[in-house]
Amino acid sequence: MEFFIDSADVEAIKELGDFLPIDGVTTNPTIITKSGKDPLEVLGQISELLSDDQKLFAQVVATDYEGILAEGRRICSLRERNMFVKVPVSRTGLKAIATLKEEGLGVLATGIYSPEQAFWAAKAGADYLAPYLNRMCNYGDGVGQVVDLIETMAIYGFDAKVCAASFKNVEQVHALLVAGVPSITVAPEVIRSMVDHPGTGIAVDEFTANWQASYGRAAFEA
Ligand code: E4P
Repeated sequence: MEFFIDSADVEAIKELGDFLPIDGVTTNPTIITKSGKDPLEVLGQISELLSDDQKLFAQVVATDYEGILAEGRRICSLRERNMFVKVPVSRTGLKAIATLKEEGLGVLATGIYSPEQAFWAAKAGADYLAPYLNRMCNYGDGVGQVVDLIETMAIYGFDAKVCAASFKNVEQVHALLVAGVPSITVAPEVIRSMVDHPGTGIAVDEFTANWQASYGRAAFEA
């Protein structure tokens, strides 16, 4: 199972990467613009924070076939390995995904709103399929659709891995983890909410206070 940080906030990636075994970082054009930095500069900074085994994803901005191919090749050249290009699943995007895969590049099909779009992206050879869970929930049963998508991939034995994206809260993440989602990308604020529970702090304070009262110190041994 792979867990990615969905962000181009270098400080947030540094903070979370310090104590969580993350598998890499995903970005999209909006996320990159929010960094306030030049795209290549911020991708370089994120890459420096990652080991060679961790993955980095960046999305094409071009919408025409040749433009998608050119940007896809450029993006994948940014790292020696584990650099993936994200391509939206438009008609042109599906065609470009097949070509980029023929060239041996790593591809994530993005902007997926239905299991059927994902099916075609998997047929085109995409390595990852990114359904936009929260946005899908605006149109109906987003969780149910993504679960159907995960099952469809298993039924046909596609190599493509579902990388669920677009989460607004921990409840949405929980629903997909329970469903066995193979990979997921989550924004820093939602990851923090997954980890930090006030009950844990209260319990630890209680343990420390009791230890202090009995042994006069806040450490296991003197
Ligand atoms: C993945 O990187 C997607 O682009 C991202 O999760 C979309 O999230 P949003 O719906 O919050 O824009």
